[in-house]
Amino acid sequence: MERHGGKITYENIQELKYLDLCVKETLRKYPGLPILTRECTQDYRIPESDVVVRRGTQVLIPLLTISMDEKYFPDPEQYSPERFDEETRNYDPDAYYPFGAGPRNCIGIRQGILQTKIGLIIMLSRFNFYATIPAKIKFEGSQYSAPSSSSEQAADCGVKVKMFVYTLALVALVIFLGLKYIYSYWDRHGVSNIKPNIPYGNLKTVAERKESFGIAINNLYQRSTERLVGVYLFFRPSLIIRDPYLAKRIMVADFQHFHDRGVYCNEHRDPFSANLFALPGQRWKNLRAKLTPTFTSGQLRNMMPTFMAVGQKLQAEVERLVEEPAVHNVRALMSRFVIDVIASVFFGFESNCIQDPRDPFFVTLTDLVRAVSFINNVRSAGVFVCPALLKLTRLSSLPPEVIKFVKEIITYQIEHRERNDVARKDFLQLLIDLRREAGENKEEKLSIEQCAANVFLFYVAGAETSTATASFTLHELTHNPDVMVKVRQEIDEMLERNGGKITYENIKELKYLDLCVKETLRKYPGLPILNRECTQDYRVPESDMIIRKGTQVIIPLLAISMDEKYFPDPEQYSPERFDEETRNYDPDAYYPFGAGPRNCIGLRQGVLVAKIGLILMLSKFNFEATLPRKIVFEAATVPLAPHGGLPMRISRRVK
Ligand code: HEM
Repeated sequence: MERHGGKITYENIQELKYLDLCVKETLRKYPGLPILTRECTQDYRIPESDVVVRRGTQVLIPLLTISMDEKYFPDPEQYSPERFDEETRNYDPDAYYPFGAGPRNCIGIRQGILQTKIGLIIMLSRFNFYATIPAKIKFEGSQYSAPSSSSEQAADCGVKVKMFVYTLALVALVIFLGLKYIYSYWDRHGVSNIKPNIPYGNLKTVAERKESFGIAINNLYQRSTERLVGVYLFFRPSLIIRDPYLAKRIMVADFQHFHDRGVYCNEHRDPFSANLFALPGQRWKNLRAKLTPTFTSGQLRNMMPTFMAVGQKLQAEVERLVEEPAVHNVRALMSRFVIDVIASVFFGFESNCIQDPRDPFFVTLTDLVRAVSFINNVRSAGVFVCPALLKLTRLSSLPPEVIKFVKEIITYQIEHRERNDVARKDFLQLLIDLRREAGENKEEKLSIEQCAANVFLFYVAGAETSTATASFTLHELTHNPDVMVKVRQEIDEMLERNGGKITYENIKELKYLDLCVKETLRKYPGLPILNRECTQDYRVPESDMIIRKGTQVIIPLLAISMDEKYFPDPEQYSPERFDEETRNYDPDAYYPFGAGPRNCIGLRQGVLVAKIGLILMLSKFNFEATLPRKIVFEAATVPLAPHGGLPMRISRRVK
């Protein structure tokens, strides 16, 4: 001031180096904004780590905390302008950015600093200042020391109640805003979507157990006319692909963008979840390559004697049941047949579910897997809809009793056969052979746990689907007498030609039965929906829309199969639509076993077992409907299951 005759100019202020250090130190201890924020606008892998910050995530930079961290600013409580002096520097310049940094930093830095300095120069040159409070400042909203008088305590109590109410209101507001944010995902991304219900998303009817997951998704299909429509599976934004051609492209030609299912899978914590259906990426590819040779038609032909032995037991049991004409649940009968087949070829031992509905294998698997409880609902929702739920609750994907039961059977079977050099013509043997071929190569060798997890998957994937195919076919035949006469005649003629013998080759002769099974799989697909996770950003062909990596896509198989655009008169059961000569459907919209590299690995077996069951039943017995044609589906399961089963009047055929 003296040098410049008391004049304060822009240039004079630049001379005040120590004042500048003071302002810097003040901005460290008391940054104007204690936190900085950014929104991630493009998926970002954190350098030198596997963590990916997803697009849309809010990122917080705790400026005050960093500025008061002694790692970057030694003795941080000490007000020491000298730490910013070049000669006595004592801070980490890369951790100091009181005005933010980069293109989005404070636009008014210079003005802010200048105003502050002018204020300080004027005040300090003319006045003295003495402290009346301690150096450590208590900020607005911080805790104050306990009051001593009773009136102060009463006031404090009032403050606490108020604080509690405010906190509750704040939590409610944060939850409300959080949910609003989650459920605005598709609006924010400019995608047409179906209005969700907070907090169920578009699955309120599933939460209320009024509809199964599959039926609910297919009903959502009816509520839009767009090619793709955004929905929320509880909290998870997902896209329903309403265009069957695009769906096929996603599964086949553009598979590299959609090679995973995005369902729960945790190899280390829950090895049973790491099965072929759930595994992602390369781990899925390796396992699929190992297992594919075990599902060839050659292997199936080898297993024919086992299928037929179980089939004879089914025929004998129904013979016994119809000594007195009565109504029987055909679905339950078929289910027991299919489970005996699965026990024999996958688990490697003979169960007796056909003759004994209380067989321990049947009871354990069906009761434990289907047991309805809150915990099991959390498990199913976690596996299919919200994998984070299982991570959060640390629940396993299956009830521990089921895991123990399956592991014990498979461990016993594998160890017994390996130790005693016993071989059997079944699928388990093929897994044992694979283990032997891998020798001591730990990378290649399937562990017993992996074998058990996949055997159990084959039970889950094969039992309901094959049962449904056989029993829904019988249901439709009872309502379509012309079709029944035609398919029966074909079966009778084939058996006559072959002296009553059913072989792999004979079954191939049954062209009309094949059309019937195809039509059943259209009206009642084994899985009413298919799903994929987008594994690489994908531009939807002939549009500007991008499906972002991580998005769950759903293909509403049942709704497509029942859409008259692709299958005229869809309610009509018409096997002839699949006949080459009278073809009446769009082949690009028909994929009951999925499509592309991730399609059903067991399709041949599923169809073969269903056909064997049908041939054995139709050749010997009459079936009469007791239910109307239109089926009411169970609300609880993912596959289509008729509510109350499929009761039919069964009697012995008189030829
Ligand atoms: C008629 C009976 C069956 C039907 C309708 C059926 C249907 C399906 C469908 C729709 C898929 C999903 C495909 C996709 O996402 O593209 C699938 C996958 C699968 N199915 Fe089947 N299935 C049947 C029988 C079986 C049988 C008997 C087995 C095993 C023995 C089996 C094992 C599997 C497995 C392991 C997968 C997952 C494949 C992978 O991700 O690599 N299925 N099935």
